[in-house]
Amino acid sequence: MKIEFRENGSIGIETGGKYVFRQGDQEVVIEKARVSLCRCGHSGNKPFCDGSHKAAGFVAPAAVIELNTDA
Ligand code: FES
Repeated sequence: MKIEFRENGSIGIETGGKYVFRQGDQEVVIEKARVSLCRCGHSGNKPFCDGSHKAAGFVAPAAVIELNTDA
């Protein structure tokens, strides 16, 4: 699994093609290869990024975390 912290932006996660989103009583299977999560705190659709980080002037460096599930 690869987690990408985008410069001045969101957290991008490669899903492998789909993921399950659970919140409260809601559970939805979403078929997308990537999901973008908010790390600026300004999204109106948390936990997902809605692009609000741009207007908020969020500043943070880019970074990547790769998880090796074979280890
Ligand atoms: S990182 Fe995009 S809205 Fe927060």
